[in-house]
Amino acid sequence: MASATTQSEPTPIVKTDKCYIRAYTPGDIPAAAEAANHPEISQYMRNRFPYPYTLEHAKFWVDFSTKADPMVNFAIIAPDGTFAGGIGLSPRDDTEYRTWEVGYWVATNQWGKGIATSALKGFSIWAFKEFPDLLRLEAVVFEGNDGSMKVLERVGYTKEGVRRKAICKKGKVMDLHMFGLLKEEVGRLE
Ligand SMILES: CC(C)(COP(=O)(O)OP(=O)(O)OC[C@H]1O[C@@H](n2cnc3c(N)ncnc32)[C@H](O)[C@@H]1OP(=O)(O)O)[C@@H](O)C(=O)NCCC(=O)NCCS
Repeated sequence: MASATTQSEPTPIVKTDKCYIRAYTPGDIPAAAEAANHPEISQYMRNRFPYPYTLEHAKFWVDFSTKADPMVNFAIIAPDGTFAGGIGLSPRDDTEYRTWEVGYWVATNQWGKGIATSALKGFSIWAFKEFPDLLRLEAVVFEGNDGSMKVLERVGYTKEGVRRKAICKKGKVMDLHMFGLLKEEVGRLE
């Protein structure tokens, strides 16, 4: 009998008991498009994470992310292999080039299982090891996104301030809550 062939997946960059993080593959596109296509997710993301979120958006993102050098955007996968979300870094420029922003989202059907907390923790540790010049990671959270603020505080990020009325999303003006994690603080996460 012929043995079953399995498609090989990229090696995870982070493994936790709740999820693993690996490079996107073209096979993720349908599941990523379906998972991302929820207003409960896009409402707390920048406008470059659109709603509706189509297959074309997912194709573009997977292609963009996998061709980038260095690769900084990854898929979050549940322990059973189900696509569970995305996590990534946006390098800042000019004099802030040693500060990178971290962003993440989790599929609505996977919420509340600790996936974002464990992914962010593992990914933050990975980022400081992978990019030695990095001094700080920061995350920016829209007013009202209490779930994400809880994730950041639980991982060990410090709330550093609030930029009042910094955001206008679909006509709604909101404050922006700033969180940061310094390289020398990452040890307390491990
Ligand atoms: C924020 C988000 C990433 C959290 O993902 P998750 O995998 O469900 O997170 P976790 O399970 O690790 O932890 C979430 C915690 O927040 C809590 N929480 C969720 N919504 C909450 C709310 N409205 N108020 C207070 N706590 C809330 C959960 O109960 C959980 O805490 P618990 O473990 O003590 O029950 C997910 O909801 C999401 O993708 N949201 C939309 C996109 C987004 O906000 N991305 C982050 C942008 S900064």
